[in-house]
Amino acid sequence: MSFYNIYNADCRKQIKLIKDSSVDFILTDPPYNIAKYSTGNINLSGRSSINNDVGKWDLNAINPADFLYDFKRILKPDGNIFIFTSYNLIGKWHAVFDPEFDTFQFFIWHKTNPIPKIYKNGFLNSCEMIICLWNKGHKWNFSSQTKMHNFYESPICMGNERLKNPKHPAQKPLKLLKHFIKIASDEGDIVYDPFMGVGSTGVAANLLNRSFIGCEIDDIYFNAAKDRLKI
Ligand SMILES: C[S@@+](CC[C@H](N)C(=O)[O-])C[C@H]1O[C@@H](n2cnc3c(N)ncnc32)[C@H](O)[C@@H]1O
Repeated sequence: MSFYNIYNADCRKQIKLIKDSSVDFILTDPPYNIAKYSTGNINLSGRSSINNDVGKWDLNAINPADFLYDFKRILKPDGNIFIFTSYNLIGKWHAVFDPEFDTFQFFIWHKTNPIPKIYKNGFLNSCEMIICLWNKGHKWNFSSQTKMHNFYESPICMGNERLKNPKHPAQKPLKLLKHFIKIASDEGDIVYDPFMGVGSTGVAANLLNRSFIGCEIDDIYFNAAKDRLKI
Protein backbone atom coordinates (compact mmCIF):
# COMPACT_ATOMS: atom_id res chain seq x y z
CA MET A 1 0.00 0.00 0.00
CA SER A 2 1.66 3.28 -1.12
CA PHE A 3 1.65 6.45 1.00
CA TYR A 4 2.46 10.08 0.29
CA ASN A 5 3.73 12.31 3.10
CA ILE A 6 4.63 15.85 2.20
CA TYR A 7 5.85 18.70 4.38
CA ASN A 8 5.83 22.48 3.96
CA ALA A 9 9.15 23.01 5.78
CA ASP A 10 12.88 23.54 5.60
CA CYS A 11 14.17 20.10 4.64
CA ARG A 12 17.23 20.52 6.89
CA LYS A 13 14.80 20.24 9.82
CA GLN A 14 12.22 17.93 8.22
CA ILE A 15 14.82 15.28 7.31
CA LYS A 16 15.49 14.75 11.05
CA LEU A 17 11.98 13.20 11.30
CA ILE A 18 12.90 10.39 8.88
CA LYS A 19 13.99 7.11 10.45
CA ASP A 20 17.44 5.59 9.89
CA SER A 21 17.74 3.21 6.88
CA SER A 22 14.15 3.79 5.76
CA VAL A 23 14.39 5.38 2.29
CA ASP A 24 15.07 3.40 -0.90
CA PHE A 25 15.76 6.26 -3.29
CA ILE A 26 16.63 9.92 -2.71
CA LEU A 27 15.80 11.70 -5.97
CA THR A 28 16.11 15.42 -5.59
CA ASP A 29 16.60 18.71 -7.39
CA PRO A 30 18.10 21.25 -4.96
CA PRO A 31 18.78 24.89 -5.86
CA TYR A 32 21.66 25.25 -8.33
CA ASN A 33 22.96 28.65 -7.13
CA ILE A 34 23.19 29.86 -10.72
CA ALA A 35 20.72 32.77 -10.37
CA LYS A 36 23.63 35.09 -9.58
CA TYR A 37 25.06 34.41 -13.07
CA SER A 38 21.79 35.13 -14.90
CA THR A 39 21.75 38.03 -17.36
CA GLY A 40 18.00 38.39 -16.74
CA ASN A 41 14.97 38.04 -18.97
CA ILE A 42 15.12 39.28 -22.57
CA ASN A 43 12.05 41.21 -23.69
CA LEU A 44 11.09 40.79 -27.35
CA SER A 45 8.63 43.06 -29.13
CA GLY A 46 5.42 41.27 -30.10
CA ARG A 47 6.55 37.96 -28.55
CA SER A 48 6.73 36.52 -25.06
CA SER A 49 9.99 37.33 -23.31
CA ILE A 50 12.87 34.87 -23.06
CA ASN A 51 12.95 33.73 -19.46
CA ASN A 52 16.51 33.46 -18.10
CA ASP A 53 15.66 34.00 -14.44
CA VAL A 54 15.80 30.98 -12.15
CA GLY A 55 13.95 32.16 -9.05
CA LYS A 56 14.73 33.83 -5.72
CA TRP A 57 14.91 30.40 -4.09
CA ASP A 58 18.08 29.77 -6.08
CA LEU A 59 19.98 32.55 -4.28
CA ASN A 60 20.13 30.65 -0.95
CA ALA A 61 23.52 28.97 -0.84
CA ILE A 62 23.48 25.17 -0.96
CA ASN A 63 26.27 23.48 0.96
CA PRO A 64 26.45 19.74 0.09
CA ALA A 65 28.16 19.05 3.44
CA ASP A 66 24.90 19.99 5.21
CA PHE A 67 23.19 16.95 3.66
CA LEU A 68 25.80 14.20 3.88
CA TYR A 69 25.06 12.93 7.38
CA ASP A 70 21.27 12.70 7.02
CA PHE A 71 21.27 11.40 3.43
CA LYS A 72 23.54 8.54 4.56
CA ARG A 73 21.56 7.99 7.74
CA ILE A 74 18.10 7.64 6.10
CA LEU A 75 19.19 5.65 3.02
CA LYS A 76 18.81 1.86 3.10
CA PRO A 77 22.08 -0.04 2.48
CA ASP A 78 20.83 -0.99 -1.03
CA GLY A 79 19.51 2.50 -1.78
CA ASN A 80 20.48 5.03 -4.46
CA ILE A 81 20.82 8.81 -4.50
CA PHE A 82 20.33 10.98 -7.61
CA ILE A 83 20.82 14.76 -7.31
CA PHE A 84 20.30 17.35 -10.05
CA THR A 85 23.08 19.90 -10.00
CA SER A 86 24.96 22.44 -12.10
CA TYR A 87 28.48 23.16 -13.29
CA ASN A 88 29.28 25.47 -10.37
CA LEU A 89 28.26 22.97 -7.66
CA ILE A 90 29.22 19.56 -9.07
CA GLY A 91 32.76 19.85 -7.68
CA LYS A 92 31.41 20.55 -4.20
CA TRP A 93 29.02 17.59 -4.34
CA HIS A 94 31.89 15.41 -5.55
CA ALA A 95 34.33 16.57 -2.86
CA VAL A 96 31.85 15.78 -0.07
CA PHE A 97 29.95 12.73 -1.37
CA ASP A 98 32.44 10.77 -3.51
CA PRO A 99 34.62 9.61 -0.55
CA GLU A 100 31.50 8.36 1.25
CA PHE A 101 30.02 6.09 -1.46
CA ASP A 102 31.38 3.26 -3.61
CA THR A 103 30.24 4.96 -6.81
CA PHE A 104 29.75 8.53 -7.97
CA GLN A 105 28.61 8.85 -11.60
CA PHE A 106 27.28 11.77 -13.54
CA PHE A 107 24.29 11.64 -15.85
CA ILE A 108 23.28 14.12 -18.56
CA TRP A 109 19.74 15.13 -19.41
CA HIS A 110 19.74 16.65 -22.90
CA LYS A 111 16.82 19.01 -23.39
CA THR A 112 15.61 18.82 -26.98
CA ASN A 113 13.82 22.20 -26.74
CA PRO A 114 16.12 24.47 -24.70
CA ILE A 115 15.63 28.23 -24.43
CA PRO A 116 17.03 29.74 -27.66
CA LYS A 117 20.27 31.75 -27.56
CA ILE A 118 18.67 34.83 -29.04
CA TYR A 119 21.92 36.80 -29.64
CA LYS A 120 23.72 33.67 -30.98
CA ASN A 121 26.73 34.47 -28.79
CA GLY A 122 27.23 31.18 -26.96
CA PHE A 123 25.95 27.63 -26.57
CA LEU A 124 22.33 26.95 -25.75
CA ASN A 125 22.03 25.62 -22.21
CA SER A 126 20.60 22.29 -23.33
CA CYS A 127 22.13 19.94 -20.77
CA GLU A 128 21.49 19.37 -17.10
CA MET A 129 23.67 17.22 -14.83
CA ILE A 130 22.51 14.67 -12.31
CA ILE A 131 24.92 12.98 -9.91
CA CYS A 132 24.22 9.35 -9.06
CA LEU A 133 25.55 7.65 -5.92
CA TRP A 134 25.35 4.19 -4.38
CA ASN A 135 27.17 1.48 -2.49
CA LYS A 136 27.91 -2.12 -3.52
CA GLY A 137 24.79 -4.32 -3.59
CA HIS A 138 22.54 -1.40 -4.51
CA LYS A 139 19.18 -1.98 -6.16
CA TRP A 140 19.58 -1.53 -9.90
CA ASN A 141 17.09 -2.39 -12.63
CA PHE A 142 19.45 -2.54 -15.60
CA SER A 143 17.27 -2.81 -18.73
CA SER A 144 19.66 -3.10 -21.71
CA GLN A 145 23.04 -1.84 -22.92
CA THR A 146 21.33 0.56 -25.35
CA LYS A 147 18.95 2.00 -22.75
CA MET A 148 21.40 2.38 -19.85
CA HIS A 149 23.60 5.22 -21.15
CA ASN A 150 24.30 8.02 -18.67
CA PHE A 151 22.43 10.28 -21.09
CA TYR A 152 18.73 10.86 -21.71
CA GLU A 153 16.90 13.07 -24.17
CA SER A 154 13.55 14.64 -23.50
CA PRO A 155 11.92 18.02 -23.91
CA ILE A 156 11.62 20.35 -20.92
CA CYS A 157 8.23 20.27 -19.27
CA MET A 158 5.58 21.52 -21.70
CA GLY A 159 1.89 21.53 -22.60
CA ASN A 160 -0.65 20.28 -20.06
CA GLU A 161 2.10 18.90 -17.81
CA ARG A 162 3.57 22.39 -17.24
CA LEU A 163 1.82 24.17 -14.39
CA LYS A 164 0.66 27.70 -15.28
CA ASN A 165 -0.16 28.91 -11.78
CA PRO A 166 2.20 28.74 -10.06
CA LYS A 167 4.76 28.42 -12.80
CA HIS A 168 7.90 26.77 -11.41
CA PRO A 169 10.95 27.61 -13.55
CA ALA A 170 12.59 24.26 -12.73
CA GLN A 171 9.60 21.90 -13.05
CA LYS A 172 11.04 18.59 -14.22
CA PRO A 173 9.41 16.37 -16.87
CA LEU A 174 7.74 13.21 -15.58
CA LYS A 175 9.28 11.19 -18.41
CA LEU A 176 12.80 11.80 -17.09
CA LEU A 177 11.88 11.26 -13.44
CA LYS A 178 10.07 8.01 -14.27
CA HIS A 179 13.17 6.81 -16.14
CA PHE A 180 15.25 7.32 -12.96
CA ILE A 181 12.66 5.84 -10.58
CA LYS A 182 12.26 2.67 -12.68
CA ILE A 183 16.03 2.10 -12.70
CA ALA A 184 16.80 2.87 -9.06
CA SER A 185 13.79 1.52 -7.15
CA ASP A 186 11.06 -1.14 -7.16
CA GLU A 187 7.30 -0.98 -6.73
CA GLY A 188 6.37 -0.35 -3.07
CA ASP A 189 9.69 1.40 -2.35
CA ILE A 190 9.98 4.81 -0.68
CA VAL A 191 11.24 7.75 -2.76
CA TYR A 192 12.27 10.95 -0.96
CA ASP A 193 12.61 14.44 -2.46
CA PRO A 194 13.61 17.09 0.11
CA PHE A 195 13.43 19.90 -2.49
CA MET A 196 10.26 18.84 -4.28
CA GLY A 197 9.12 22.16 -5.80
CA VAL A 198 5.69 21.48 -7.33
CA GLY A 199 5.99 17.79 -6.53
CA SER A 200 7.08 16.29 -9.85
CA THR A 201 9.09 13.50 -8.20
CA GLY A 202 6.04 12.59 -6.12
CA VAL A 203 3.76 12.47 -9.15
CA ALA A 204 6.23 10.23 -11.01
CA ALA A 205 6.63 7.97 -7.93
CA ASN A 206 2.85 7.78 -7.58
CA LEU A 207 2.43 6.74 -11.23
CA LEU A 208 4.95 3.94 -10.66
CA ASN A 209 3.40 2.64 -7.39
CA ARG A 210 6.16 3.90 -5.12
CA SER A 211 5.54 5.71 -1.81
CA PHE A 212 6.73 9.29 -1.54
CA ILE A 213 8.06 11.63 1.13
CA GLY A 214 8.53 15.20 -0.06
CA CYS A 215 9.43 18.58 1.38
CA GLU A 216 9.16 22.13 0.02
CA ILE A 217 9.88 25.37 1.85
CA ASP A 218 7.73 27.66 -0.32
CA ASP A 219 4.04 27.44 0.55
CA ILE A 220 2.80 28.30 -2.96
CA TYR A 221 4.85 25.51 -4.55
CA PHE A 222 3.93 23.20 -1.66
CA ASN A 223 0.19 23.76 -2.23
CA ALA A 224 0.64 23.10 -5.95
CA ALA A 225 2.37 19.81 -5.10
CA LYS A 226 -0.47 18.95 -2.72
CA ASP A 227 -3.01 19.52 -5.52
CA ARG A 228 -1.03 17.47 -8.02
CA LEU A 229 -0.68 14.60 -5.56
CA LYS A 230 -4.36 14.98 -4.53
CA ILE A 231 -3.46 14.76 -0.84
C1 LIG B 1 15.07 23.21 -8.43
S1 LIG B 1 13.63 23.44 -7.52
C2 LIG B 1 12.83 21.85 -7.56
C3 LIG B 1 11.83 21.73 -8.69
C4 LIG B 1 11.17 20.35 -8.74
N1 LIG B 1 12.09 19.37 -9.24
C5 LIG B 1 9.91 20.35 -9.59
O1 LIG B 1 9.83 19.62 -10.58
O2 LIG B 1 9.00 21.12 -9.24
C6 LIG B 1 14.23 23.56 -5.88
C7 LIG B 1 13.16 23.81 -4.85
O3 LIG B 1 13.74 23.73 -3.54
C8 LIG B 1 13.03 24.61 -2.68
N2 LIG B 1 13.88 24.82 -1.50
C9 LIG B 1 14.96 25.64 -1.39
N3 LIG B 1 15.52 25.53 -0.16
C10 LIG B 1 14.77 24.61 0.52
C11 LIG B 1 14.86 24.04 1.82
N4 LIG B 1 15.82 24.42 2.67
N5 LIG B 1 13.94 23.11 2.19
C12 LIG B 1 12.96 22.73 1.33
N6 LIG B 1 12.82 23.23 0.08
C13 LIG B 1 13.72 24.16 -0.33
C14 LIG B 1 12.78 25.82 -3.55
O4 LIG B 1 11.69 26.60 -3.06
C15 LIG B 1 12.50 25.19 -4.92
O5 LIG B 1 11.11 25.04 -5.17
